Amino acid sequence: MADNNFDVVVIGAGPGGYVAAIRAAQLGLSAAIVEKRETLGGTCLNVGCIPSKALLHTSHMYHAAHDGFAAMGIKASKVGLDLKAMMAYKDGVVGDTVKGVDYLMKKNKITRLLGTGSIPAAGRVTVTGADGKAETIQAGNIIIATGSGVTPLPGVDIDEKQIVSSTGALELPKVPKTMAVIGAGVIGLELGSVWSRLGAEVTVIEFLDHVLPGMDAEISKHMQRTLKKQKIGLKLSSKVTGARKSKTSVTLDVEPVAGGEAAQVKADVVLVAVGRRPYTDGLGLEGLGIEPDKGFIPVDAHFQTKVPGVYAIGDVIGGAMLAHKAEDEGVAVAEIIAGQSGHIDYDAIPGIVYTWPEVAGLGKTEEQLKEAGIEYNVGKFPFTANARARAMGDTDGFVKILADKETDRVLGVHILGPAAGDLIQECVAVMEFGGSAEDIARTCHGHPGLPEAVKEAALDAGGRALHI
Ligand code: NAI
Repeated sequence: MADNNFDVVVIGAGPGGYVAAIRAAQLGLSAAIVEKRETLGGTCLNVGCIPSKALLHTSHMYHAAHDGFAAMGIKASKVGLDLKAMMAYKDGVVGDTVKGVDYLMKKNKITRLLGTGSIPAAGRVTVTGADGKAETIQAGNIIIATGSGVTPLPGVDIDEKQIVSSTGALELPKVPKTMAVIGAGVIGLELGSVWSRLGAEVTVIEFLDHVLPGMDAEISKHMQRTLKKQKIGLKLSSKVTGARKSKTSVTLDVEPVAGGEAAQVKADVVLVAVGRRPYTDGLGLEGLGIEPDKGFIPVDAHFQTKVPGVYAIGDVIGGAMLAHKAEDEGVAVAEIIAGQSGHIDYDAIPGIVYTWPEVAGLGKTEEQLKEAGIEYNVGKFPFTANARARAMGDTDGFVKILADKETDRVLGVHILGPAAGDLIQECVAVMEFGGSAEDIARTCHGHPGLPEAVKEAALDAGGRALHI
């Protein structure tokens, strides 16, 4: 390897890109990673998953201390909020985490290049620094892992102060009195929860007639009731058509999707969370003859674009926009480049919403099974019947397991409840192995534990739950 000649050059250092570089290095390939942000880790670590989880945790603790402790006999009469310190805590978590990626790059001898990557031709990557200086390096293989950016909403221009994207919502200088959230997807509900717990009056405006699109309908319905209990307002089947700013507030025009008179929603801060779109700016795809499909880079089953030696993974190729899906694709593509057979089971990728209670979905929903004409058994177990959940005072929600009527194979798992994101993981492993509901039901689960609710739901799929 010469200084400017690598087996693999990855463009984009998010969870997809940096993991691809590590796996390539582990397999003996020389690797470089090109990133325009000063810090590694991409959206997820810098302005996405990690800071939002830090704020979800701290706001949950604050809220519990404020509203939940008394019922448990804990006197905490002077609970107060120091938002600046809370933000500093979050920034500390992010700082430590991105430094961790730096360490991993060094440990694996991956060359880090600061600048914007573009591909003038197969086998070459140009890195342009913020000062405009460019250098071109040789790349045996190129992996595009440039991720996604915020989808804008026409008429509602993001200024990251009064009208914010998820990035701005992670660093508001004070708790707004009122907040309007446009979009009841993952970001809308997670960040809406954060600011609601910290004291904002939150109203979520959603185009569809339900929250969390793509999730099992029963879960989504239950979540709506939970949000209502948490005093988060919901305006479903409504679309935002415009925004007017004054010095201190924003007024949104909100129309019923079915037609009818527009209403106004006024809020101190508006969060736009209507999705994310693939980010391919400046890569030079046109010159390579790669034509994006609805913005996404088309790839074959081996993550290769139509240009040999140019691969793409993560949000930029479509599918679930999830860090862990991108990571797995990073591993798979590096293995494929190294001559191995990287593979991903897309049916066994969990989706998690880190509200509290959390929501986790895996495999097929009931609606999907019905549509596909697949017969199934449903096993359900409520957290009210789980001793550990009762001890924790966290009984909202249930576990639902969908198993093939004939073979008992697990086809889908949907959980709303405490630590749902962790609970679903045993089901991911079972699905990876093609396991059955009975496999879960006959596995010994520690008592008293939340995972017993998963076991009971699996028992229920066979009509023999023990504790309901
Ligand atoms: P999303 O696709 O989850 O939800 C966007 C919502 O906005 C949808 O319900 C949609 O119907 C609604 N919407 C669209 N246009 C609208 C309009 N004009 N008025 C009202 N509602 C409208 O997108 P979100 O929440 O922005 O998240 C982006 C991506 O980031 C998602 O793919 C998500 O999976 C990912 N993400 C994942 C997280 C996790 O794994 N915990 C955390 C945060 C984001």
